[in-house]
Formats: sequence, structure tokens, C-alpha cells
Amino acid sequence: MVETREEIVEYLEVEGQKPLEGIVEISGAKNSALPDMAAVLLTDEEVILQNVPYLLDVYTMKDLLKHAGMEVEERDRGVFSFRLSGTPSPEAPYELVSKMRASILVLGPMLARFGRAKVSLPGGCSIGTRPVDLHLKAFEKMGAKIKVEHGYIHAYAPDGLKGAYIHFPKITVTGTENVLMAAVLSEGETVIKNAAKEPEVVDLAKMLKKMGADIQGEGTDTIRIKGVKRLNGTIHRIIPDRIEAGTFAVLSALTGGKIVIKNYPFEYLQFVDKVLKEIGVDVIPIGENQAVIKAGSLKPVEIETKEYPFFPTDLQAQFMAMLSVAEGRSKIRENIFENRFMHVPELKRLGADIQVKGRDAYIKGVKKLTGAQVKATDLRASASMVIAGLIAEGTTRIYDIYHLDRGYENIDQKLKLLGAKVRRGYEERTDL
Ligand code: EPZ
Repeated sequence: MVETREEIVEYLEVEGQKPLEGIVEISGAKNSALPDMAAVLLTDEEVILQNVPYLLDVYTMKDLLKHAGMEVEERDRGVFSFRLSGTPSPEAPYELVSKMRASILVLGPMLARFGRAKVSLPGGCSIGTRPVDLHLKAFEKMGAKIKVEHGYIHAYAPDGLKGAYIHFPKITVTGTENVLMAAVLSEGETVIKNAAKEPEVVDLAKMLKKMGADIQGEGTDTIRIKGVKRLNGTIHRIIPDRIEAGTFAVLSALTGGKIVIKNYPFEYLQFVDKVLKEIGVDVIPIGENQAVIKAGSLKPVEIETKEYPFFPTDLQAQFMAMLSVAEGRSKIRENIFENRFMHVPELKRLGADIQVKGRDAYIKGVKKLTGAQVKATDLRASASMVIAGLIAEGTTRIYDIYHLDRGYENIDQKLKLLGAKVRRGYEERTDL
């Protein structure tokens, strides 16, 4: 007797080839909100964060902080206060960490502030194994005792962390952020060599300095931190999301170029705007931090993803959707993650002509894409499916849409305001 299982699956249905126009406002950056929220563990005073995006990952981080003993209050739209209330419990349980790998960011602050932490080892994710070995090695160099058993990282630094010379063999964004947050309360000086230079790292340093930390060199490959005894509270505004902004720049270029993008972080997207120009897409500043996109016929390019300030891996899938309908042959090399081409078979279902060989994707532009049922395979690939669906002929249904809600605030609303015909639907699926 075959066991059948009914399940309800959610999808986003997108009508293709509608010209989009209007204004879209870029939200606060997910990858800034997450480390900044982890940093509130470093003080027992109140911290207020503004421009916090309403994203699934942000809710998960809030749950993690509450679990650790923080009081989290929504003061106004996008404004949250955080304060340690009562006895802290420096733990991050599996059921929360398994939802969001960036939970590893609480390890550094917990270790530095409470001298111990029990954090579930983050599982892998679809874009790669995503190890955290470099984080753990750095904390051991700072004097922590680390044991990994039963899927948990047990870290102890009963006499506090000591400053150390940390040379990362490869650039790691959250690794740099984790060590930065641990170092600010460590005894003595910590030097981070081969540090990540992402704007989100620089802005975290800015927030920590407002809290009283002694940090130099953020934004370069060498960051020096002199430990202090304690940190004060602060008020800090989350920076705009450069990946969301880049996503809407691609979308505007493909749908008639009549979208005004508010809070466009030009300074963080210089390299991306240069690549857009090579493709034939101009990002034109108008007014205060606003951009309009002017696109001619789309030319082929070669792109390779690298650490900041070069082309971000988080925009790779979105640019691949655009190059699928550009003229000629383009090539994208993914240097950061070992498995970040899962959107390729999905784009091919929409009619794209792409061949993958190892770290390289070869894209041959086609006249048009045609709507189909596809699935979102990771957070940024989901945006690439939305872009492709909005330019394809006919209707596209995107499954596993929760990926999109992890990283794009109110995306349905923002698209509808631009004239897109999108709707969420549910379908019963019988799994035999
Ligand atoms: C951050 O992830 C971002 N997440 C990612 O954004 C982004 O794609 C990535 O940086 C690269 O820019 C957040 O900031 C929350 P890494 P992170 O450590 O820090 C290897 C999104 O879509 N590595 O810089 O986890 C790793 O496997 C997400 O918002 C180790 O080997 O990335 C990768 O190949 C996806 N050992 C490379 O380094 C370690 O201990 C870079 O990873 C750590 C990393």
C-alpha cells in the first residue's frame, strides 16, 4: 500500500512582460542588521536600532536574543530597543540556528561578555558547506577553550578573552565581524589581518565605536582593536541594503527603466555600477541618494565574484537572469561559494541557454524567456527567479518562496506598487 502525504506548498505567481514604473524604497541591509543585533549582547545598557528591515532572518535573530535574555521592543516602524534583562543565558539552540546560519554571530559577543557560550553548529546550506572553522580557530587564539560535540559549539573563556594576532587565511565576512565583536571587550590588542572590507563590517565597527570601542582600520585588510572594560548603549541606524538596490537596478533595466530607486547606496555599488555600464545600463543619480536606470540593448560581459570592493556573490544570480536575455555570450565565475549555481537549471526551465563548467557559467543570450514552474534554491537565487518571471512571456510560478522572505522586505508589496502582477498562492501537493 503506497503511503500518500498531502502537503500545502506556497508559491509566488508572476505575470511576465508588464512594464514597471514608480518608486521603490530600499530597506535596511539584512547583513548589517544581523551583526548589529548580535552586538547588543556586548552591553547591559539599552541599544536602539533604526531602519531594521522586517525579514524572516531578523525575526530569527530577535528570537535568539530573547532566548539569551534580552528584552526586545518595537518602538516604531523599523525601530527596536534591546536591553539585557535579568540573568543572561548565552545559548543559541538548534531550532533557531538551523533556520539561519548567521546565528553564529552571537558566539563572539557571548564569549566576550559572559565568558561562555553554547551555540548550535550551523548546518550547511544550499550554496555550500559554509564551515565556521575560521571563527573557532580565531577564538582559540584569543584564549577560548572550544569543544564541538552533539552538534553544539561549547566555548569557554572564564578568565576573559585575550587580544591576539588573527590572520585569516581567506576573507570571511561574519568571521571578521565575530572576531571584531569579541575583541572589543578582550584584554589587550587584537589585530585582524586579511579582514573583510564589506560596508556592513565597516558599519558594525562604527556602531561599536559609538558604544565606546577602540577600533582602527575598518574597511582595510588590517583592523586593530584595543580591548576596553565595558561598552555603553547607543542609537544606530542600519545602512541601506546594497544587494536589494542592485537587484532593483537589474529589474528596472529589464522592464523599461522607469523605476526610481530611493536610498540607492552609490558608494557601496561602485564596482556593480561599472559592470552595469559595460552591459549598457546607466545608473543615473537624481536628488538625494536616488537613482534612475537607463538601459539600451544589453551587451555580453565577463563577471567574476570576489570579496568587496569587487563584484558581490550575492548579486551573481540576479545578473545571470539579466545576461540570459542580453546579446551574445557572457561568462560568470563564482569564486566565493562552491555551489552557487542552483538557479541555472531553474533559469533553463524558463528558456535560458546556460552551461556550467566547474566555477564558470557560460550564458548565451536568448531572445526571450517563457514562463514556467520553478523553485527558489537560495535567498538570492529567489530574486533571480522573480526577475526572470517578470520578463518572461506568460506566467511563472516560483515555489520554495520562503527563501525570498528571508532577505527581501515586503517584496510583493514593492513589486505591486511598481505595477507588477504578482500573487501568492497555495496548492495541495500529494507526495507519493
Ligand atoms: C556573508 O556570509 C553573508 N552573510 C553572505 O550573504 C555572503 O554571501 C557572504 O558573506 C560572502 O559575501 C551575512 O553577512 C550574514 P564568508 P559568510 O564567511 O560570512 C569560507 C546572503 O545572501 N569560510 O565571507 O558566511 C566560506 O565557505 C548571504 O545574504 C570558511 O571556509 O561568508 C566561503 O567559501 C548568503 N571557513 C568563504 O569563506 C569559515 O570559518 C566566504 O565566506 C568561514 C568561511
